Amino acid sequence: MTRSIEFFDQQFARSASAAALVLNPFETLALPYLHGEVLDFGSGMGNLAFAAARQGCRVTALDASQAAVAHMQQRAAAEALPVRAELADLRQYRIDADYDCIVSIGLLMFFDCSTARKVLGELQRQVRPGGYAAVNVLIEGTTYMDMFEPAEHCLFTATDLQQRFAGWDIVQNELSEFEAPGNTVKRFATVIARKPG
Ligand SMILES: C[S@@+](CC[C@H](N)C(=O)[O-])C[C@H]1O[C@@H](n2cnc3c(N)ncnc32)[C@H](O)[C@@H]1O
Repeated sequence: MTRSIEFFDQQFARSASAAALVLNPFETLALPYLHGEVLDFGSGMGNLAFAAARQGCRVTALDASQAAVAHMQQRAAAEALPVRAELADLRQYRIDADYDCIVSIGLLMFFDCSTARKVLGELQRQVRPGGYAAVNVLIEGTTYMDMFEPAEHCLFTATDLQQRFAGWDIVQNELSEFEAPGNTVKRFATVIARKPG
């Protein structure tokens, strides 16, 4: 288990509280675009996955945190919602289907940059024509580093995502900054884009 997976697994094991199950701002931004078959790649506790399922989507939710996946499996059964949750290390995961929408919020920065870029390309390829990708990453200027593996993380530039979605119809393109523990900051880029066709 990497440092980042351990960090989140411990956090998720402590936090099935109502507050932890509220959508974060990036999930809130993505939700209106989600339809049909949705892949949530690095889903955490599945807050977005369940909100999408409640609006009619069939969702596959993948994460490497056992606590998060166990929580999602129990919740899917309890609420009878079409959320299929699976444990997976997404650094070397092969996506074997196409999706109407693929979401990856707050994941790619935990991979080394070469893996992060390769995985982003794979996510883009597996979106069906006319479908949406919603991607959010931490970017340069982030100073909260506690959750990172020192030798294995990637801070994108502020314009990386936007450039990677050249040729797509970019419907949301946001930079945001939040205070973090220890007088540090987290800076994020979020792009939501529609694949041509
Ligand atoms: C910042 S959280 C984001 C969770 C969710 N998307 C959200 O917006 O709340 C990062 C997630 O990435 C997962 N993660 C980190 N490294 C991973 C890996 N190698 N494979 C799969 N999931 C990983 C963590 O378990 C955690 O759920």
